[in-house]
Amino acid sequence: PVERRVDDLLRRMTPEEKVGQMTQIRLGKLRGDCEWTPGPLREDCMKAVLDDAEVGSVLSGGGDTPNPNTPRAWAEMTNEIQRYAMDRSRLRIPLIYGADGVHGHSNVVTATMFPHQIGLGATWHPELMEDLGRSTGRAMRATGVFWNFAPVSDLARDTRWGRYYETYSEDPVLAGALAAANVRGQQDGADGTAKLAATAKHFAGYSQPFNGHDRAPAQLPIRYLQDTVLPPFQAQFDAGVRTVMINSGAVNGVPAHASPYLLTEQLRERMGFRGVAISDWADIQYLVDRYHVAADYQEAIAMAVNAGVDMAMEPSNAAEFTRGLLANLRSGAISGKRIDQAVRRILTLKFELGLFEKPFVDPARADAIVNGADRPLARQAAAESVVLLRNEGVLPLSTGARKLVVTGDAADSVPRQLGGWTVGWQGVPAGSPLPPTTTVLQGVRAAVPTANVVSAPTRADAVAQAADSDAVVVVLGEDPGAEGEADTESPALTAEQQGLVDAVRATGKPVVVVLLTGRPQVLGTVADAPALLAGWLPGSEGGSAIADVLFGAVNPSGRLPVSWPKTVGDQPFTYDQPRGANVGESSDYDPAFAFGHGLSYTDFTTSAPVLKSTDVRRDGRVEVSVTVTNTGARDGTLVLPVYVHQPVSKVLTPDRRLVAFTRVALKAGEQRAVQVSFDVKRLAVTAGDMDDTGRPEVAKGGYEVLVGDGRAGFAVR
Ligand code: IFM
Repeated sequence: PVERRVDDLLRRMTPEEKVGQMTQIRLGKLRGDCEWTPGPLREDCMKAVLDDAEVGSVLSGGGDTPNPNTPRAWAEMTNEIQRYAMDRSRLRIPLIYGADGVHGHSNVVTATMFPHQIGLGATWHPELMEDLGRSTGRAMRATGVFWNFAPVSDLARDTRWGRYYETYSEDPVLAGALAAANVRGQQDGADGTAKLAATAKHFAGYSQPFNGHDRAPAQLPIRYLQDTVLPPFQAQFDAGVRTVMINSGAVNGVPAHASPYLLTEQLRERMGFRGVAISDWADIQYLVDRYHVAADYQEAIAMAVNAGVDMAMEPSNAAEFTRGLLANLRSGAISGKRIDQAVRRILTLKFELGLFEKPFVDPARADAIVNGADRPLARQAAAESVVLLRNEGVLPLSTGARKLVVTGDAADSVPRQLGGWTVGWQGVPAGSPLPPTTTVLQGVRAAVPTANVVSAPTRADAVAQAADSDAVVVVLGEDPGAEGEADTESPALTAEQQGLVDAVRATGKPVVVVLLTGRPQVLGTVADAPALLAGWLPGSEGGSAIADVLFGAVNPSGRLPVSWPKTVGDQPFTYDQPRGANVGESSDYDPAFAFGHGLSYTDFTTSAPVLKSTDVRRDGRVEVSVTVTNTGARDGTLVLPVYVHQPVSKVLTPDRRLVAFTRVALKAGEQRAVQVSFDVKRLAVTAGDMDDTGRPEVAKGGYEVLVGDGRAGFAVR
């Protein structure tokens, strides 16, 4: 029926109405000075955009919020915009409102902020991603925001790049599984309360600018693109993600927004994506202004739309964009069929989300649904994301401690703990109210109410206070930031941060270093700190969760979703880089901490893997059994990655590739048989010579499954 309703509408729409649907305008265009200045919605601004240009969508980019920034005010605002738009729309076509809810409904100051994606990657826990997605979806929908520009499917492969923290992992299988689960949660319409359009972004190759600078060009061999970059997107497409956002950068000399190869051949024809493809912010304009691949805006519009862009996000000037589309339509530079295809996708999205039936939300319910929602879930997610990197008998700390010192730049800093895309684009803006957050200092105080927990803001204070303390907790962070602003030439702890740790270590007291950073920082002198944990950007409940781990209420289970480089020169840096000719029997992968590393307060053993069949077909599955045992004295959860090694391959393949993983909770002393399986098609690689690259295929021949220290061979026929 949706198809029929869309066809019916399309038949009745004028060309002007159609191109309006292909336009998404920032909230600022409707208020203040009809540009940037915040303020109430203005009739004349609304008329220009929603009436005259009849745009199909409005967005709040990071920081574009109503005032006051409450869920109720959001709901009232989106309702008012919706009412205005529908009342002026001849066919009563509803708007769709979009925003970046990248770690919870993170534009809203009273919402619960979940850990950023890089921390969630460390959980290796798809079911948890689904819960987080559902929670975010429920909160966004309650405020009338039906479209979330998340999750990020890009891979974390270069720590210089400032948006590293927005990704799940360097590994395509891990990132894909987590992103797909998050999409299922966000889009889950089971009870209608969390039914959203999620977004797979940024298609494709965005996270790998050659020099680490956001939006610098990427050079990605087609083999690498197909075998590594695209699979996480495919996982989201298979999970039914409704929209995709395009990479603002250029790949192999072609801006992604102007690439029929990426946006049609790969996205549609090979990968089978059927939803809406939206540009990133002003990126069609940039084909003229920045990339110089089009002589003027009209040509740029034709390039982008013909390549496969269905909707333009914030085309600076909506009227100019829609005029350009119409001129292209008249001249035949864009066909009517292509416009109809784009509009059909957009209308289908609106029908699927129920916007025609229920375009408005109930402002009276919004505060109750959003404010402080799911704090226990946020705490669980943050605790599961903690990776215990080193522990020389320091952790867990005793709850009977008498005096503890908490110091470091991120010990009591809400903006540092929450990172970018929190209330504002570059993180919590100066002067903004702070989202309700438990910092590490507060978390430690709550965990050991009987102890004297001293906050030491300076190095001198920390050293002085350490003298009669039981232990010192040093919490180090980095400045929050987003697009461009968070790029760095030197992803390393600063001299001051290292100096602080050196100074407190010199007191001889037990020292725990907690890193609240969005990427692995090169550690310098901190590398051999007796206890070191990565807490990432852990969100509203980060401080409670870190305290849970510090004092042993939670046994850490997080495993690194990325490789931790030893030096700032290790870029890009991943566990799956194929080996080179100067390397002997082992690869030259030499990280500070390897992909998958993470300690526990207990010990586990894993038996050698046993395969159900050692002879499998290319369209079959490999079923692996192992026995895992918790040999220690505490309950714990083991993350169990399954890798495959291909002893001989026609093109280079990594020494090991992740193909599957699971998590097993084991009581102290418990032993359990565990089954994990994976599709043989996970082993597909692009096998052509040089640029003679067809589709990825599974090579016949011998392979090995690697689990723990064991391995088992199988053949694909
Ligand atoms: O969704 C984001 C995108 O990730 C980067 N540019 C702006 C968009 C909307 O805020």
